[in-house]
Amino acid sequence: MKSYPETTTPLRLGRLVLKNRIYFAPMGIDMADETGGMSDELERFYRGIIDGGSAMVVLGNSSIDPSTRLHRRGLCLHDESHARRLAPLIAYGAARNCPVVVQLQHYGAQGSSRSGQPLSAPSAPRNLRGSKLDSKSPTRRMGLDDIAAVRRQFTKAAVLAQRAGARMIQLQASNGYLLSSFLSPYTNRRRDAYGGSALRRARLLLEVIEDIQNATAGAIDVSVRLGIDDCLGSAGQEPHLLGEVVRELGRAGVAAIMCSMSIRETFHQMIHPTPHMRRQLTEGVRRIRAEATTPVGFAGFIATLDQAESLLAERVADLAGMSRAIFADNDIVTKSLAGDPGRVHACLYDGNCFRDKTNPALDRVYCCVNPKYKRPEHISYA
Ligand SMILES: Cc1cc2nc3c(=O)[nH]c(=O)nc-3n(C[C@H](O)[C@H](O)[C@H](O)COP(=O)(O)O)c2cc1C
Repeated sequence: MKSYPETTTPLRLGRLVLKNRIYFAPMGIDMADETGGMSDELERFYRGIIDGGSAMVVLGNSSIDPSTRLHRRGLCLHDESHARRLAPLIAYGAARNCPVVVQLQHYGAQGSSRSGQPLSAPSAPRNLRGSKLDSKSPTRRMGLDDIAAVRRQFTKAAVLAQRAGARMIQLQASNGYLLSSFLSPYTNRRRDAYGGSALRRARLLLEVIEDIQNATAGAIDVSVRLGIDDCLGSAGQEPHLLGEVVRELGRAGVAAIMCSMSIRETFHQMIHPTPHMRRQLTEGVRRIRAEATTPVGFAGFIATLDQAESLLAERVADLAGMSRAIFADNDIVTKSLAGDPGRVHACLYDGNCFRDKTNPALDRVYCCVNPKYKRPEHISYA
């Protein structure tokens, strides 16, 4: 039977000790209830994943304020009722040695205009040609009061996560959403203390980390999902620009850096695992890890435990995230470790789960292969 010595080596992440190196990377499948609270259906979904052998589950993005939403059935965490509804799932994970990490999200300029408010951005948008930015959603450059308000929203959400029993949160600072739009030279052209150099662009993220540490007296570990590459070449964020930021995140005491790639304009590049995109991602992650003093993980195109094992053995990263592969088969970890990878329902990487998110005929995300949540047959993207 094949063994996975790297994958099964435990890993310390802040105060957590993970039983192996595989985590379920965040996937907003839009099954929260109408208030943004954890529904029974969504809780069942995550329990299935916890039971499948991953060392850690990062929940799909939780919106930190009513003013920032994307999907009608996306999770939220800005009210005591959201925290109360989250607590049983976090307890379920803790009892099975699979910590549940809450991802805190401000959608920034990639949110929806449903709240009627202009979308928040570090700078006014410069060129929307070719982007899918909703023309009905005017974008507003944030003033210092807006920045202070967002800091308070992140802190409140982190305190609510702590009350729900979470031992770690993840700040969503990737994929073009608010925190990463500050980090990226593509979207941040400010000339004040929040723009100019890579470190100044990281100021908001670093302030949010410090605010959370102060408000929780350091009792909750903070991890960061870091957008390392906008996939726009030298026009956007690139791994080599982030060295100082990564070192500063280490000094700030983050428990882990989880890398991700692409923004809304370029997300299509993350659909199919081409050799070029795999290499761009893994080389970028290597570069980040070379600067990091904390464990580094990443998600993107990891389809099997064999691939995860190789990436870990090659020291690309310290832990391996899988979203679509675990969505396609919740038990991929258990089945593979038991020497039964042949029974795994393999992800097709056709991108249809991404497409579900904007399909007006659907209000949640489905899968092509997992019999538990197979897409209705009348929905076709052919
Ligand atoms: C349907 C869907 C929803 C996603 N939702 C989130 C999310 O809520 N937060 C986030 O940071 N990434 C999200 N992602 C991105 C994944 O975490 C991951 O980076 C991406 O799918 C690539 O990894 P994979 O090849 O293992 O799927 C989502 C991806 C998909 C397909």
